[in-house]
Amino acid sequence: MQATLLQRSLAAVWHPCTQMRHHASGELPLLAISHGKGAWLYDTDGRRYLDGISSWWVNLFGHCNPRINAALKDQLERLEHVILAGATHEPVVALSERLGALAGGALGHCFYASDGASATEIALKMSAHFWRNSGQAEKHGFLCLAGGYHGETLGALGVTDIPIFRDAYAPLLRPAAVLPSPDARQGASPLAAAECAATALEQHLAEHHEQIAALIVEPLVQCATGMAMHDPDYLGRARALCDRYRVHLICDEIAVGFGRTGTFFAHEQAGIRPDFLCLSKGITGGYLPLSVVMTTDTIYQAFYDDATARGFLHSHSYTGNPLACRAALATLDIFSQDAVLVANTAKAERIDALLRPLAAHPQVRHYRRRGMIFAFDVDADAGFGRRFHRAALERECLLRPIGNTVYLMPPYILDDAEIEQLCRVVGEALDAALPE
Ligand SMILES: Cc1ncc(COP(=O)(O)O)c(C=O)c1O
Repeated sequence: MQATLLQRSLAAVWHPCTQMRHHASGELPLLAISHGKGAWLYDTDGRRYLDGISSWWVNLFGHCNPRINAALKDQLERLEHVILAGATHEPVVALSERLGALAGGALGHCFYASDGASATEIALKMSAHFWRNSGQAEKHGFLCLAGGYHGETLGALGVTDIPIFRDAYAPLLRPAAVLPSPDARQGASPLAAAECAATALEQHLAEHHEQIAALIVEPLVQCATGMAMHDPDYLGRARALCDRYRVHLICDEIAVGFGRTGTFFAHEQAGIRPDFLCLSKGITGGYLPLSVVMTTDTIYQAFYDDATARGFLHSHSYTGNPLACRAALATLDIFSQDAVLVANTAKAERIDALLRPLAAHPQVRHYRRRGMIFAFDVDADAGFGRRFHRAALERECLLRPIGNTVYLMPPYILDDAEIEQLCRVVGEALDAALPE
């Protein structure tokens, strides 16, 4: 008998972020996806799943979007890839210009990579190298926030504070100082939590700023730790403190950029600009791996020199891949042609109206939302998340709680019926996953 796709996958593919034995035991289902359309994924047995988590927060405008498909088909006939050291091409130039304009002209220099973690690495290296080029080589320490997540390569893990991802590799990491998070759940009010975290930042900077290159934050929502949300006030305070103590502010918008929090970039809600802005995930509409670090002219000029070693000698083979850049341009076209942020405001209100009643559930804590991200915590045992995941799949929805935090981060193209189904299934799966 021929092996199924699932059997072949379990034999040959080491799946990410997974204890593979949980697949073998059936505790964690493995979906064999044959195709996707709009917000739906279809498996090889003909079952379908509404993608409530945008395939790991990347998909914005649905699977197999006709407009992004068309742009990619056109690009395929022109240029699939070219080395970006010593060569350039229209998609990477146009994308850099458009991203620069979207950031108000303040971050006009774009450095590309493939995944989110590589953008984190680049921002950290660029910051420390800036200080070295500026005659302050001792400024090479980093600050990050409790519960923060910036990727899983060693440099990125060094500024990540999630034990399950970090602990096994702790001896390999160069530690950063972990400061209190402004997580709104931890204060008497979101503003009080922001103020408290900013006070801790100020105290740390006052004492250590001479050794510190940069503070890295996930603006407004610390996603991977369980959708911890904070008030924009924290970002304003952090920006002012970084200016006062001459420390860079790195905004990691890999998960929260591209409209997820309601504005195109999350940091806009604080009326600030970072020194480095890291973007990935939604940048290609969820099609291809692409990340970018955007930075200021001041940073760029510190590397601009006759000496090669003062340049930023960092590269990845697929840096600025033309296909990925074309997908990104098509994604930006959809944003402007369809007034997506305006439409999302109404969609987010509808989702909120349907989900918010769950806040009254006796085992639900801290219902929260920001833009198109919705979350709540559940008082339950450690197995809750997996039971919820399975219960949602049985009801045609792909949802993966983080620990005991249930969240929605759907693609932006859901229609009313899909919104209704997703929200109904959240309630049903919650009841199904809680013990009687
Ligand atoms: C805020 C943040 N930074 C960095 C990353 C890492 O991105 P990637 O998984 O593409 O390496 C993620 C991924 O979830 C993220 O949420």
